[in-house]
Amino acid sequence: AEGRKHARPERDVSALSSVPRILSTRAALYERDFPVYKQPVEVGCFSLDSRRTFFNDARQLRYYVEPDRKPKLDLREGYRERYVRRDERVKENLDHLLTWILANRSKLPSRPAASSSLLELDVDIVTWRGHLTKLLTTPYETQEGWQLAVTKFGGTLYVSEVETEAARQSRESRTERHDEMMYWGYKFEQYTCADEVGACPNPGGVVNTNEAFCTVVQTRLGPHKLLFSGEVDCRDPDPLAPPAPSCYIELKTSAEIRMPKQRRNFLRYKLLKWWAQSFLPGVPRIIAGFRDSDGTVVSVETYHTSTIPQIIKSEYNSWKPTVCMNFCFDFLSFAKTAAIEDDPRVVYLFSWEPNRDVIYSVHRDSPYTFLPEWYVRQMMS
Ligand code: A3P
Ligand code: MG
Ligand code: MG
Repeated sequence: AEGRKHARPERDVSALSSVPRILSTRAALYERDFPVYKQPVEVGCFSLDSRRTFFNDARQLRYYVEPDRKPKLDLREGYRERYVRRDERVKENLDHLLTWILANRSKLPSRPAASSSLLELDVDIVTWRGHLTKLLTTPYETQEGWQLAVTKFGGTLYVSEVETEAARQSRESRTERHDEMMYWGYKFEQYTCADEVGACPNPGGVVNTNEAFCTVVQTRLGPHKLLFSGEVDCRDPDPLAPPAPSCYIELKTSAEIRMPKQRRNFLRYKLLKWWAQSFLPGVPRIIAGFRDSDGTVVSVETYHTSTIPQIIKSEYNSWKPTVCMNFCFDFLSFAKTAAIEDDPRVVYLFSWEPNRDVIYSVHRDSPYTFLPEWYVRQMMS
């Protein structure tokens, strides 16, 4: 036996192993029973101010204020004079979430490490909610691919998005019109949110997209223990509202629906993204402002996240929540079998393009490395 072990040629290791090297994204493969997805529990929150400084508190949380029954909210107002954009060239990776983890480590579940006397996080996956949203919608996405960098450290997989070349090019060649339309979503938030309970919105203020309030939730998808953070637009101002995340409200804008084709596109594409984004952290309500062609919100509707699956069911060839969740489940299992080496300097880079399988490559000490040295050092002490 000893002799055979020495004789085994190293280049054959991959052929002998049963680790799959690709993952299909064909929707039909994921039409199984809905997986176990535990009710997400908020374990904390944090805020980023107008300069993108981190605070371990809820100072940026805003309160929803219902607009008039016949609103006329001009979303274009202030675009030139009072719009401060976050610098999207700065890649923050998981840094704010990692800062939150270090500040709240004693409150998080931990387990004895396998190979040392240290305690490690009793969590399988740490990531942003937005990255999970992209996974949920992958079986139905036909336009934009993604790249996710995965590092195993202390038994936990850290998942951080890498901007694709196509996404970088479209960001750098964004038109003025597109830039203005991105502003509209934030302007709607300004019309419908107040800084304090009982206060009024201030549409004359500056829209600064550096500011954010983020919830951190814990949940489980099948066997995968998840810890993730997502930006929250506002909360129900009623102090008797249920505890977070159930009191949170997601705000959205969309073009008015006039033609059957517009309704079909809204249900098939927009509601899919809205559902995935809010279902993941357990945000129960989505308030949508519908705008006319001049960028004025003329009606406001509430969607209950839990009833969206029923709304879309009657559509021919619609998306299925179970496909979204099972694909995410299988991707996380795939990532766990692939990312075996526990090393903060190693990145398993998962790449996907529409009409292709998910593939991955392995990189050591490369520009893809994203776990900061300060995080690794403090987690090891
Ligand atoms: P809408 O959602 O009304 O389109 P969120 O809804 O996730 O809270 O994001 C707030 C706004 O940010 C969005 O408003 C949109 O204007 C902008 N935004 C968010 N994600 C975006 C993306 N991937 N591309 C372009 N704009 C985006
Ligand atoms: Mg938001
Ligand atoms: Mg929103």
